[in-house]
Amino acid sequence: MTSVATSINLKNDLLTGMEWNPAQMRDFFRLTASMKAHPGKYRSALAGSVFVLIFEKPSLRTRVTFEVGIANLGGTSIFLDHTSAKLSEREPVRDIAKNLERWVQGIVARVFAQETLEELAANANVPVVNALSDKFHPCQALADFFTLEERFGGLRGLKLAYVGDGNNMCHSLLTIGARCGAHVRVATPAGYEPDSAVVAEAKRVARETRGKIEILRSPAEAVAGVQAVYTDVWASMGQEAEASEREKAFAGYQVDEALFAQAAPDAVFLHCLPAHRGLEVAAGVIDSPRSIIYDQAENRLHVQKAILHTLLS
Ligand code: CP
Ligand code: NVA
Repeated sequence: MTSVATSINLKNDLLTGMEWNPAQMRDFFRLTASMKAHPGKYRSALAGSVFVLIFEKPSLRTRVTFEVGIANLGGTSIFLDHTSAKLSEREPVRDIAKNLERWVQGIVARVFAQETLEELAANANVPVVNALSDKFHPCQALADFFTLEERFGGLRGLKLAYVGDGNNMCHSLLTIGARCGAHVRVATPAGYEPDSAVVAEAKRVARETRGKIEILRSPAEAVAGVQAVYTDVWASMGQEAEASEREKAFAGYQVDEALFAQAAPDAVFLHCLPAHRGLEVAAGVIDSPRSIIYDQAENRLHVQKAILHTLLS
């Protein structure tokens, strides 16, 4: 099988995105571009491999893109729906991992707690991929920066403003953005800042890559002159009971036309989806020609194919 030369030698799991160094990140995007441009070359890359997809939370994009991607590479997937019963309710996560490693070549898991992923990875001798946890969403952020690279031709020094909750999406944009040498500005209300350890790690990596990480309060300050404006829901999956309290806390943090107009003239709007028009983003922004939300969604497929190919090579 033909594939692009790569220096990627990743740890066998993708749990946080911190497994990747900046050089590996560049190679990874090169591989993703090759897999997107030449899908036929990779159609047997995972022939004979079976993956289990364990989801404790609902999904449209992540589930479909993993299932389609695995099929495109000649592999097979088994979906385990844990949306009504958490993984550990029937048996310990350790036992689940130790069973699965006997049958399948990889585990893709969407979980409430990052610790569940760590426990799966510690006990399964097959790659584990984070399909979203409370802490990180690396597959999404990789697709987002790949999409921005396609759009702008490079990521070094690219300015991205994330406005909203300091959540899993924010953490992954910081972690991956720092490795890409991007300038990531985050604006959150008080009490909703990103995790300080994640910010410190991103700042350390950004010093190496000449990227920049800024944690701010003011959406206008964050958005001024940037090429990319990103937002996510104010109440993530599992936080539904806090929705009305959060709507009050996030008043003033909507990406509306007036805020978006303060970005660069060629700026694009990003959102991982699902989105709530009229809350974190105005319909006039997310449904405008500047919105690249469906390019992001498309690239989930290509990025995840490259993740699986990399981890199993
Ligand atoms: N963006 C994203 O992960 O979408 P799903 O929750 O539908 O998988
Ligand atoms: N922060 C959101 C992302 C959804 C893709 C959540 O966790 O629900």
